[in-house]
Amino acid sequence: MGFWHHRWQTQQIGWHRDVYNDLLTKHWGSIGAVDGGEVLVPLCGKSLDMLWLADSGYSVTGLEFVEEAVQAFLQENELEAENSEFGNHVLHRTPPFRIFQGDVFDLKERDIQADAWYDRAAMIAIPRESRIAYVDQLRNLTKPDAVGLLITFAYPQEEMDGPPFSLSDDDVRQLFSDGFVVECLEQIDLGDEKERGLSQVTSSVFQIKRI
Ligand SMILES: C[S@@+](CC[C@H](N)C(=O)[O-])C[C@H]1O[C@@H](n2cnc3c(N)ncnc32)[C@H](O)[C@@H]1O
Repeated sequence: MGFWHHRWQTQQIGWHRDVYNDLLTKHWGSIGAVDGGEVLVPLCGKSLDMLWLADSGYSVTGLEFVEEAVQAFLQENELEAENSEFGNHVLHRTPPFRIFQGDVFDLKERDIQADAWYDRAAMIAIPRESRIAYVDQLRNLTKPDAVGLLITFAYPQEEMDGPPFSLSDDDVRQLFSDGFVVECLEQIDLGDEKERGLSQVTSSVFQIKRI
């Protein structure tokens, strides 16, 4: 938690984009998310992708534990939210958005029952040892037939300490091997990232459906 607080307080938020994610806009329509359903956006930061999902007719439930991030999302998009306590979380509600401010791992099964989920720069922000718990939370907080769109980032892990942590296609297939159907929609070769000392970077887009 200290790490992410520090990143927000010092505005070291290089992951944030001022445009919609092109892989979201390209692939979302084909994954079979229920029209008008609820989309879970774990580790949402102040992502504009939540606005795109809302404009596309979904209700959007973000999960984020840094208050600065939640306030930035609300203020920068001129949203006024009502706040209430929800277990260990603060729930910010301004339809069609709900943001649960707190640790994603503190939410209990069925606190949320979303129809779909969207993960960009979320699973790759989670330490490797917590990935199984993260997948469990995706299962706990979505409906039995929920579908997700996952965008990964992979590089030789020994070349950099995360976050972002490298998440390979094999990691994804293994992590979602129990109770999910995993389909890779696109693989992108991003070349190297010399400024971070990475010799080879790839990104993949997955459709992941509960069965
Ligand atoms: C790399 S950023 C990505 C944000 C967003 N997905 C985007 O694409 O802009 C990861 C975010 O997750 C939040 N975060 C990290 N661990 C979390 C946790 N366990 N529970 C809730 N939020 C968390 C951080 O504060 C940070 O805003």
